[in-house]
Amino acid sequence: MNLLPWRTALLSVLCLAALTVATAKDKPKKTKAEYMGSVTCQGCHEEISRAFEKNPHFIVESHSKHGWKERACESCHGPGSIHAESASPTDIDNPAKMPPRKGDQACLSCHRNQVTQVGNIFGGHARSEVACTQCHSIHDSARKKPAEDCGSCHVATLAEFQKPYRHRFQEGGIRCVDCHNPHGREIPTALRVVSANEPGCFRCHGDKRGPFTFEHAPMRMEGCRACHEPHGSANPRMLTRQEVRLQCLECHSNLSVAAGTLGGPPPAFHDLRSSRIQNCTICHVKIHGSHVNRSLLR
Ligand code: HEC
Ligand code: HEC
Ligand code: HEC
Ligand code: HEC
Ligand code: HEC
Ligand code: HEC
Ligand code: HEC
Ligand code: HEC
Ligand code: HEC
Ligand code: HEC
Repeated sequence: MNLLPWRTALLSVLCLAALTVATAKDKPKKTKAEYMGSVTCQGCHEEISRAFEKNPHFIVESHSKHGWKERACESCHGPGSIHAESASPTDIDNPAKMPPRKGDQACLSCHRNQVTQVGNIFGGHARSEVACTQCHSIHDSARKKPAEDCGSCHVATLAEFQKPYRHRFQEGGIRCVDCHNPHGREIPTALRVVSANEPGCFRCHGDKRGPFTFEHAPMRMEGCRACHEPHGSANPRMLTRQEVRLQCLECHSNLSVAAGTLGGPPPAFHDLRSSRIQNCTICHVKIHGSHVNRSLLR
């Protein structure tokens, strides 16, 4: 029988044990913090604790269904025993001071399954590490509501709403969140234009929803943005082109056919130099889709 492997094995076990003891001595393991309950926090954080009774999150404190009854503070701040003893701010989690991904985890542990969060990982905010706490304040009820504060970062979008043809954003007629879910959307960017119509535009422009017997193809394929600038435009009807005619010919010309894109050129009787014909939507009134006419004439 060859004993050598056994000896080697024994030796390495001993070495390992020695190593473990050594590291344990070098770095005494911090005792793990434990949950204390909200009463403990209240002892030193009287004001915040009292205000918390009116917080939407108070239901976490008062109701057992969320699993944090009487220890709601620690559902976001983590177990607080060490901090309660040291009273040092470095011994307790503050989601607003943590790296975004980590801070968000605390919030998402409860909010992940909410319908509005389904698209979170595809959203520009999550991808660019805009934390929940950058928009939402938990304790500061005086802070601006998140829906009123999008423009603080999106300055360029705000400027688009200054253009001559636009939704009446400044007058309070529309909000960013009427068209956008700030938490992202569930359809990845590959399909983004299709999602651009839903649900935002149709909520107010229900007549454009269809289904139409004769649909104008780009409505489904590309969405409203194929022809409109939703934030604001220099062109009437918020079109992406100066004139309706140019909008149409972008897709309905020999050029676009040659390019293998989109719709065919208008039939020959359309004399494109005639001003009568140039006003395409005088005849093609049902430009978004028709229930009765294939050529979108009525
Ligand atoms: C013994 C008193 C004491 C107790 C008990 C206590 N804290 Fe604190 N806490 C403090 C002090 C002091 C500070 C620092 C205050 C400051 O910086 O203004 C602080 C700061 C904090 C901060 C801010 C940390 C930061 O970096 O911004 C949080 C969050 C916090 N406490 C949560 C809690 C929670 C949750 C509990 C209950 C588990 C709790 N505290 C219990 C004394 C206490
Ligand atoms: C839903 C998550 C959540 C709950 C529940 C919560 N906090 Fe906070 N707390 C935060 C966040 C986020 C901040 C950072 C500032 C803010 O958003 O208002 C914070 C900040 C603090 C601070 C630092 C002071 C400040 O205003 O910045 C203290 C102290 C604190 N919380 C104590 C408590 C106590 C005590 C409770 C329970 C009564 C509690 N928190 C419950 C999320 C929470
Ligand atoms: C322990 C579970 C839990 C955690 C952790 C939690 N929440 Fe909540 N949150 C709730 C519950 C429960 C409600 C209220 C019930 C509801 O409307 O769904 C709520 C409500 C909200 C609301 C709506 C408030 C309103 O005015 O209606 C916001 C915004 C919110 N939470 C943000 C956050 C953020 C940001 C964090 C992380 C800092 C967080 N939550 C952490 C459970 C939690
Ligand atoms: C703290 C800064 C900040 C605030 C506040 C903010 N955003 Fe953003 N937003 C960003 C960043 C960063 C991106 C990613 C880069 C980009 O696309 O410009 C982004 C991307 C977006 C996008 C692009 C689509 C996507 O999800 O990829 C939309 C739409 C958007 N934000 C809407 C909003 C709305 C609506 C609000 C207000 C509720 C808002 N934002 C508030 C920083 C912010
Ligand atoms: C860019 C800003 C922004 C960010 C980042 C953000 N929110 Fe919101 N959140 C909003 C706005 C604005 C509303 C109100 C939407 C409305 O009025 O339709 C809202 C609403 C909510 C609500 C109320 C219910 C609902 O779903 O509409 C909850 C809960 C919530 N947010 C949680 C979170 C959590 C958790 C995170 C981080 C993962 C987060 N939010 C990140 C801006 C933001
Ligand atoms: C009338 C509906 C509507 C309103 C209101 C609206 N948006 Fe948009 N927004 C859109 C559409 C549609 C897109 C294009 C989405 C796509 O291509 O998938 C878009 C795109 C964006 C983008 C991506 C970059 C870009 O310009 O293509 C950002 C950022 C953005 N919006 C922010 C905002 C902010 C901030 C507000 C409020 C100041 C706002 N939006 C208001 C409909 C709207
Ligand atoms: C909150 C309701 C609301 C939503 C959501 C909405 N709109 Fe509008 N839209 C209006 C109103 C109201 C008008 C009439 C003009 C005005 O008074 O602002 C209008 C006008 C328009 C016009 C015609 C402008 C003109 O000069 O006649 C276009 C084009 C338009 N919207 C496109 C869109 C698109 C595309 C979307 C989605 C990206 C959208 N709208 C989402 C309310 C809305
Ligand atoms: C193929 C291009 C095209 C697409 C795609 C398109 N539109 Fe239009 N839209 C137009 C044109 C052109 C006009 C101007 C019609 C005219 O000359 O009166 C218009 C006008 C409008 C108007 C103002 C007049 C009216 O009919 O109420 C609204 C609102 C509108 N569009 C909303 C939408 C919405 C919402 C979508 C997406 C669901 C959409 N459009 C998609 C081309 C388009
Ligand atoms: C973004 C590209 C695009 C724009 C802009 C556009 N169309 Fe179209 N259009 C199409 C496509 C694609 C079809 C479907 C062609 C097919 O099925 O062969 C179509 C179909 C049509 C049809 C029905 C004819 C048919 O072959 O089914 C008419 C009429 C029409 N468009 C008129 C217009 C007018 C008028 C405008 C300007 C207001 C316009 N289109 C703007 C792409 C566009
Ligand atoms: C004076 C009315 C009128 C004007 C203006 C007009 N059209 Fe037409 N267009 C028609 C009629 C009528 C038909 C249907 C012909 C048929 O059914 O055979 C048609 C057919 C079409 C078709 C093919 C539809 C099909 O069913 O195959 C396209 C594409 C088209 N028009 C595009 C345009 C464009 C682009 C403009 C603007 C430059 C325009 N039209 C201006 C009356 C008009």
